[in-house]
Amino acid sequence: MSIIVYTLFVSSLVVSIAADTPSNSQFQSLSPGETIVSPRGIFELGFFNLGNPNKSYLAIRYKSYPDQTFVWVANGANPINDSSAILKLNSPGSLVLTHYNNHVWSTSSPKEAMNPVAELLDSGNLVIREKNEAKLEGKEYLWQSFDYPSNTMLAGMKIGWDLKRKINRRLIAWKSDDDPTPGDLSWIIVLHPYPEIYMMSGTKKHHRLGPWNGLRFSGMPEMKPNPVFNYKFVSNKDEVTYMWTLQTSLITKVVLNQTSQQRPRYVWSEATRSWNFYSTMPGEYCDYYGVCGANSFCSSTASPMCDCLKGFKPKSPEKWNSMYRTEGCRLKSPLTCMLDGFVHVDGLKVPDTTNTSVDESIDLEKCRTKCLNNCSCMAYTNSNISGSGSGCVMWFGDLLDIKLYPAPESGQRLYIRLPPSELDSIRHKVSKIMYATSVAAAIGVILAIYFLYRRKIYEKSMAEYNNESYVNDLDLPLLDLSIIIVATNKFSEGNKIGEGGFGSVYWGKLASGLEIAVKRLSKNSDQGMSEFVNEVKLIARVQHRNLVKLLGCCIQKKEKMLVYEYMVNGSLDYFIFDSTKGKLLDWPKRFHIICGIARGLMYLHQDSRLRIVHRDLKASNVLLDDTLNPKISDFGVAKTFGEENIEGNTNRIVGTYGYMAPEYAIDGQFSIKSDVFSFGVLLLEIICGKKSRCSSGKQIVHLVDHVWTLWKKDMALQIVDPNMEDSCIASEVLRCIHIGLLCVQQYPEDRPTMTSVVLLLGSDEVQLDEPKEPGHFVKKESIEANSSSCSSTNAMSITLLTAR
Ligand SMILES: *[C@@H]1O[C@H](CO)[C@@H](O)[C@H](O)[C@H]1NC(C)=O
Ligand SMILES: *[C@@H]1O[C@H](CO)[C@@H](O)[C@H](O)[C@H]1NC(C)=O
Ligand SMILES: *[C@@H]1O[C@H](CO)[C@@H](O)[C@H](O)[C@H]1NC(C)=O
Ligand SMILES: *[C@@H]1O[C@H](CO)[C@@H](O)[C@H](O)[C@H]1NC(C)=O
Ligand SMILES: *[C@@H]1O[C@H](CO)[C@@H](O)[C@H](O)[C@H]1NC(C)=O
Ligand SMILES: *[C@@H]1O[C@H](CO)[C@@H](O)[C@H](O)[C@H]1NC(C)=O
Repeated sequence: MSIIVYTLFVSSLVVSIAADTPSNSQFQSLSPGETIVSPRGIFELGFFNLGNPNKSYLAIRYKSYPDQTFVWVANGANPINDSSAILKLNSPGSLVLTHYNNHVWSTSSPKEAMNPVAELLDSGNLVIREKNEAKLEGKEYLWQSFDYPSNTMLAGMKIGWDLKRKINRRLIAWKSDDDPTPGDLSWIIVLHPYPEIYMMSGTKKHHRLGPWNGLRFSGMPEMKPNPVFNYKFVSNKDEVTYMWTLQTSLITKVVLNQTSQQRPRYVWSEATRSWNFYSTMPGEYCDYYGVCGANSFCSSTASPMCDCLKGFKPKSPEKWNSMYRTEGCRLKSPLTCMLDGFVHVDGLKVPDTTNTSVDESIDLEKCRTKCLNNCSCMAYTNSNISGSGSGCVMWFGDLLDIKLYPAPESGQRLYIRLPPSELDSIRHKVSKIMYATSVAAAIGVILAIYFLYRRKIYEKSMAEYNNESYVNDLDLPLLDLSIIIVATNKFSEGNKIGEGGFGSVYWGKLASGLEIAVKRLSKNSDQGMSEFVNEVKLIARVQHRNLVKLLGCCIQKKEKMLVYEYMVNGSLDYFIFDSTKGKLLDWPKRFHIICGIARGLMYLHQDSRLRIVHRDLKASNVLLDDTLNPKISDFGVAKTFGEENIEGNTNRIVGTYGYMAPEYAIDGQFSIKSDVFSFGVLLLEIICGKKSRCSSGKQIVHLVDHVWTLWKKDMALQIVDPNMEDSCIASEVLRCIHIGLLCVQQYPEDRPTMTSVVLLLGSDEVQLDEPKEPGHFVKKESIEANSSSCSSTNAMSITLLTAR
């Protein structure tokens, strides 16, 4: 892109600077014909014409160089036609240019000066300052021409924003070399969250230098520390600016050129007494803004130069196959949000930063998590690549104007979000490459055949299940089995976190870093394809903060799996039935959990469009997230109803002893009221810290009966879990026990709905009815193999087939 001619430096060092002359660099007024010269005679200010004698301009130019020497023009759009103009410094400290009493141009100053003077400096900066203040550069001037650039950038001149004074310094090209009327080409800093310098052609982006990455502009790899230039980019609350200074006496300037639509840098060569071309921007095809379209990259050394990013394919393949590639690319398969991961690409000029957000305080790992958690975040990387890298920048939406450099170290690493299927195929590719290089070719061939074979089998099984109509309308991410196998470490015992009636639950971690819980249905589980798909469809549509979120599923060969968000704190039974862990749950926390479960269940019964009866609510089906929020899980046995039908009858009874309502356990009649019963039992368990049904010695203890007996004797508080005695508020706990007893009444019609329960829990003003005798589960006790003891182990769901 840029041609660097280092030899130029040697020949162009200028040493011949005039000795101090009596200064006429300061002035109060200036007329055509007169000039003001900077102290060392480098620049002059005056009225000049550029070829046409009828148009003259107040301008600054190099004093001793023959051509292309203008660096600043005041009245570019407003030339003067004769020599009757005058430039005057007025007493408040403003320069005013008038022509026959017409105002042509003037400066403005935020404050009035006491004793102002105008001065042309050797940097090429025309300034207004207090006469008696030291004339050090870098001082706050009352006004300076460097704040109002024309088409030329000089050493020490800032481009960009003074946020305090609301000044935006920009280069604006002249219409042509002999017409300083402002053209439509500009070079500006745009204040994105991650600011960038653009060359704009009118309102269209023409070229992008890339954001400042701590070392250089992302799109300017040659911008390395060197003995000639010092580059300085500042971005803080006061300013966002870029400037360069010189460490040698080189004479150099950067000019924005409307004709060539470029921004070349020239260096003065004393040997040839001419300006030599040094470099330019944009320099090559890939430097022009967005030539390859969205989600693609441009590489000057490739043919064709445009290609899609990993995991993306051309938006319109026909156009892509021709040379016309500005349409860009789109994802091969859709993102799944939480299950996605990232691939990285090295050697890039990072994408357009219009839609970004920056957090300088976090590292790359946190950046990844933050990006993963925001479903519209498409890419991230360090915002500062200096040292070992720091800060976080995230991109939202399409990734635009990416360039790939031939040498990876010339560019930056970008982490791009992809769906699990793409991550997996990339991993396979990598492993294939590894095999191919490390193992003999013959083995490579065998492996290739093996992969093909596996692929065929996989495709066959996909085809098979695709034929089954009930899978067709799953609108959930389908995960490849291989991804889950890797995530759960091949379903290792160490990853197992639970065992239920239908199979095992494993903890896993995806390539993206996301932790998941995989419910792997045992192959001979009672839950057939129909139940599985039932559960998947249900949970995919049902979303509430007190319900566990289903992230995806996997159906492959005989495997059926559900992938849930992972709950760090495991299930509720783990806490309440454990004398040590129980201490972690004081009364306010338990009350919060009770209310959460009630809201989740109410949502299932009333608010979700589907009206769902859970049928297996119990402590081990309530999971706790990192802040101990309860989430109801395991909808495997749920049934949906239409508006009308809120009762059902089944010959398959599914549930857990101790939680089942009598009418359900005995007659298979279930309804939202049988869920209310289970809720009541669970509520009492949470308060008592005891299982609803357990063995104590040889006796089977029924918690509900026990509570009822004490309640009748006005001694209900005796059963409160000693773990929360200190924090318990007697009136609240009693009211909760009361509500619990209302829920476990024998007859379904006596039990409140979950909506009432939520209301009763939320207000202590509503009078509660006196509870009637609770329902008992008496029959068929012998079916249960082993009664669990009053604390420990998990209550297993059972499935009963009642003859009908
Ligand atoms: C300058 O103005 C004079 C008088 O109006 C005119 O004769 C001449 O052609 C003009 N020159 C140019 C280059 O426009
Ligand atoms: C020069 O400009 C002045 C003021 O704008 C105008 O009155 C005058 O006619 C112009 N002269 C010529 C020769 O164009
Ligand atoms: C970038 O990081 C380096 C080294 O950690 C630090 O010195 C520098 O100030 C940072 N630059 C910016 C722009 O934050
Ligand atoms: C601008 O570009 C044109 C065309 O390349 C060239 O002839 C001209 O000298 C350039 N002007 C400057 C000031 O660089
Ligand atoms: C930024 O986001 C807006 C809104 O989604 C979109 O219209 C625009 O094209 C995006 N710009 C870039 C450069 O990504
Ligand atoms: C994702 O990030 C964008 C941009 O910062 C923000 O507007 C949006 O609210 C975020 N979305 C979520 C779900 O956090």
